[in-house]
Amino acid sequence: MATITVDGKEIYAKDGSVLIEELLANDINIPHFCYHPALGKDGNCRMCMVEIEGKKRPQIACDTPVSDGMIIRTKGENINRVKRQILELELINHPIDCPICDQAGECSLQNYYMDVGLYDSRLDTPKNKKRKHTDLGANVMLDQDRCVLCTRCVRFTKNITKTHELGVVVRNDHSYISTFPGTKLSNPYAMNVIDLCPVGALTSKDFRFKQRVWFLKPEVAICDGCSRGCSINVDHNREKYKDDIVYRYRPKYNKEVNGYFICDYGRLSYKKENDNRLKNAYIRGMESEFEYAILKLERLLKRYNSKTLLLISPNLSLEEIYRLKKLAQKIDAQINGFDENFDENFGDDFLRKSDKTPNRKSIELLNIKNTKEDLQEQIKNKEFVLFIGREDMQTVENLDFDGSIGVMTYKDFKEKNKPDIVVPIVSHTGRAGTFINCDGFVQFSSCEIKRDMQSVKILDFLEIILNDGVTECEKVWSSGLNKEEFLNSISLSMIKSKSIKIEIK
Ligand code: SF4
Ligand code: SF4
Ligand code: FES
Repeated sequence: MATITVDGKEIYAKDGSVLIEELLANDINIPHFCYHPALGKDGNCRMCMVEIEGKKRPQIACDTPVSDGMIIRTKGENINRVKRQILELELINHPIDCPICDQAGECSLQNYYMDVGLYDSRLDTPKNKKRKHTDLGANVMLDQDRCVLCTRCVRFTKNITKTHELGVVVRNDHSYISTFPGTKLSNPYAMNVIDLCPVGALTSKDFRFKQRVWFLKPEVAICDGCSRGCSINVDHNREKYKDDIVYRYRPKYNKEVNGYFICDYGRLSYKKENDNRLKNAYIRGMESEFEYAILKLERLLKRYNSKTLLLISPNLSLEEIYRLKKLAQKIDAQINGFDENFDENFGDDFLRKSDKTPNRKSIELLNIKNTKEDLQEQIKNKEFVLFIGREDMQTVENLDFDGSIGVMTYKDFKEKNKPDIVVPIVSHTGRAGTFINCDGFVQFSSCEIKRDMQSVKILDFLEIILNDGVTECEKVWSSGLNKEEFLNSISLSMIKSKSIKIEIK
């Protein structure tokens, strides 16, 4: 352990560790472009300069090892002048198009200029113009003139995806980022370069010009695209006279589960929260009053009782699955979590998993039957099958079932006339809940965006039937979920702050 003094304040740091990491870990604002915790140092931008007592010239913090007794200055007229000069160099050819740049509001260059720049331009020669709106492929747009050549994007494709699509071409101030001739940026994680890019050079074709970022409200959730369960930020906004819209998913740093990244499939899966939503209830193919359909579904469950099969989805949260099991016990019905949503071509050795559901582990750990054979056995002599949270109608069609069918889903589907009753439910970003990922990490998705469209939360619907006042996750846990052996003394408040791993036999 080393004791160093930064701007007159003592901090403890690991001897030999990289200075910038210790400064950032202690919330000390240190401008940087090329350093990124997932990519390491490159030393090309020189923005992270600090003064170190005993050294003649300022040093870059991303390439300085910590040693005991160091005295460092990150502020003050001298070091600010150095930073200002570097910034001036970075900005020589940078267009001043901030008002129309999609990065405005989350641009490091803008922020640093406001922190230590604030100089008047001394440039009286024309700027060196580079290409705008270059389509790199994979939903990524490049504005070459905004690039500060930090090479984060190049190092991402070199060191993380190892796909090597990007490089720096040409010399001096004519240098620019490009794909190699005849190739496009194309790998399942390509859109991470948009988050890595500290300026507005790489932007998302999908998101650009849809919203100014300062209007967006971020919520924290778990991606439901596969069993990895990556941590994400959900950015949404409600404009005047409109419904709340989810505009994008971004990775949220989670050391254990997904690090700094998510895959493009998961990133773009936010669209299902807005598009193709089931907006009405249906009874025998006819649009129905929402409240009436809820009542009718409740009556159907009470009428069929033990003749019911609850066919639940591994997309549901642990709390919902636990309560559905309770319902099955109460009415002596069968419950099954069989779901064929696997894609061997989807999984890889980085984040993506072939199991494209986020919570199959919860179904297994709650000892709910989930094989096709179980389903074929359980459906015998049943008169009512209720699909809950599922997106597939094929499963029941393939089962050759001719009794009554109910569907609770968030997604619109063609054959709404086939089930006897269809009820819209709140989608993933509207319901908080716990998910257990492929490696046994128990994680809480706290996002609960309120939408105008008519839909019911599964926990609220179950409370109508179970009639025990349990509607929130906290109450589900205290009603008995917390005593499940696999949770091993984990509490809801613990997983609200971090993912916790459980042993899975
Ligand atoms: S495009 Fe962005 S990430 Fe890539 S080198 Fe330029 S500034 Fe850095
Ligand atoms: S790897 Fe899976 S959980 Fe992670 S972002 Fe992609 S689809 Fe979502
Ligand atoms: S962050 Fe240190 S030189 Fe770029």
